[in-house]
Amino acid sequence: MSNYHIKNLEEYFQVYRKSVRNPEVFWEEIAEEHFVWRKKWNSVLNWNKEDARVTWFEGAQLNITENCIDRHLVVNADKTALIFEPNDPTEDYKTYTYKELSVAVNKMANVLKSKGIEKGDRVCIYLPMIPELTIALLACARIGAVHSVVFAGFSSSALASRINDSACKMVITSDGAYRGAKDIDLKSIVDEALISCDSVETCLVVERTKGNVNFVEGRDEWIAPLLDAASDDCPAEIMEAEDPLFILYTSGSTGKPKGMVHTCGGYMVYTAYTFKNVFQYQKGDVYWCTADIGWITGHSYIVYGPLANGATTLMFEGVPSYPSYDRFWDVVEKHKVNQFYTAPTAIRALAKQQVDYVEKHDLTSLKVLGTVGEPINEEAWHWYNDNIGKRKSPIVDTWWQTETGGMMLSPLAYITPTKPTFATLPIPGVQPALMDENGNEISGNSVEGRLCIKHPWPSMARTIWGNHERYKETYFSAYKDMYFTGDGALRDEVGYFRITGRVDDVIIVSGHNLGTAPIEDAINEHPAVAESAIVGFAHDVKGNALYGYVTLKDSGKSRKEENLRKEINQVITEHVGPIAKLDKIQFTNGLPKTRSGKIMRRILRKIANNEMDNLGDISTLLNPDCVEEIIEGRL
Ligand code: PRX
Repeated sequence: MSNYHIKNLEEYFQVYRKSVRNPEVFWEEIAEEHFVWRKKWNSVLNWNKEDARVTWFEGAQLNITENCIDRHLVVNADKTALIFEPNDPTEDYKTYTYKELSVAVNKMANVLKSKGIEKGDRVCIYLPMIPELTIALLACARIGAVHSVVFAGFSSSALASRINDSACKMVITSDGAYRGAKDIDLKSIVDEALISCDSVETCLVVERTKGNVNFVEGRDEWIAPLLDAASDDCPAEIMEAEDPLFILYTSGSTGKPKGMVHTCGGYMVYTAYTFKNVFQYQKGDVYWCTADIGWITGHSYIVYGPLANGATTLMFEGVPSYPSYDRFWDVVEKHKVNQFYTAPTAIRALAKQQVDYVEKHDLTSLKVLGTVGEPINEEAWHWYNDNIGKRKSPIVDTWWQTETGGMMLSPLAYITPTKPTFATLPIPGVQPALMDENGNEISGNSVEGRLCIKHPWPSMARTIWGNHERYKETYFSAYKDMYFTGDGALRDEVGYFRITGRVDDVIIVSGHNLGTAPIEDAINEHPAVAESAIVGFAHDVKGNALYGYVTLKDSGKSRKEENLRKEINQVITEHVGPIAKLDKIQFTNGLPKTRSGKIMRRILRKIANNEMDNLGDISTLLNPDCVEEIIEGRL
């Protein structure tokens, strides 16, 4: 029996049992069977519980690009590796065979080297969803540079803080980005960010929109002439399995974004394994994940997981509504997509449109549908199943996180019977546990608790860049010797898991993880604002939207509320990015606080969600009177 590819339910249970009985033997066999290593490991897993230090395949050497590209050149050089579907459907799409991808990656890798980038240096990538983005990730990996992709919807100050946190030496960006009907001037956002980024020596610019750009002499350069002149031969840097592959920032409930560090060996094994098994990818299939590579989903399941399997992966530059609401279905039909992986927020937005948008397209190529990023509600699940999958394509509801690197709970397509809104069962090697608030594991079925993972898995983030203490505190202090996910979950009568949502102050808006702290910090920058608190409230397309409670300084109280609302959203756009704009802003004279001065977001969240009969005991608050006022002023 191959360990790598599970083919039926009986085999899943058998493999799962083996993976739990002896995780090291299980992962070792997979790593050995399916990947190219320059040197074998000395030990499969080291786990220092005291210090929350984990290593997988320590002592092994490899380069992930040899697994994602070079090894496919032997027999699959002419197979399509990447399909690029542009924002504008009238622009020609592009494809790269594995051979062409290899040439493009090697050339870019040589350009990076020529600009002084060496193994271990950090390179920030701030690009739209164009082929150069995928190529830039792989070029960094080729030479052992650590990529830090920042989603190109983040503002200049969000970009600057991420660049500075990991002291990036280079930024790769483009003149502009197309997003639906809009052109976004990316380079000027980078220019503004770089004013406060001393570590950046070079900024390479891809030409996309041909807009006007400002170049800083000695720092900025067009990448195209450099690529033209570069050699297409670039030997892969030999990396230790535990060398960092990339940093990706994610929001926490407090403080600045956390730079999650993922390493080469374990991440490769796990993303490849989950891609193959969850999607049941078969040779010749065309796979499309609609995420942006600026998020973990794009890293693991547009770039690394698919390419490590020699798959054809499609990347899409645009948005689901442009030029009209049938764009996704148009792309599925055009490229005969077999596996389609998207987010509940996109499904909900499309389900609101007339079904004609779907029906005018031939979707018969689809075999598997996927969802990720937030809980999918029952209505959206059925719409997806009925209209897109025609009740024939299984839906894989994949639960995972930036920190987990790869999928953790998910059905395997055609193998695990699905159940609406359930992420169902753990991936082999994953040991979920539900915990109560006293730190005890809740056993049995038909129970609910906080979701933890009991044993390390190969693609877990190893640390937070520059702050291992915070890593330990955030993930390994709540429950002894367990990884705490921050999510609540229930386990039904047959043992299927359903994620019930975050149990901390992280709010998921349209599938994007937003911490309350950076947004409140931004609001508080407004000169008229004294204090603020934001919470999520249920929204039928975004899942959650943001509700802000703001108290004003005396100087702000005479201002027109409508103007203030606009200005507050403007500061948020500048400091965090447009994705964090508030849907509702309520001005109030006070915020409910505990006696120690902590804002009681729980109460505010209930008010925003119109759950006023269920506020709990407010008598212990420092200022219980303000609650009445807030309820009265609810928007
Ligand atoms: O709350 C869970 C939710 O998204 C969080 C992780 O967000 P992020 O790190 O941005 O990664 C998103 C893409 C992997 C989780 O803690 N989440 C993710 N997938 C699901 C989900 N909630 C319910 N069901 C899912 N399938």
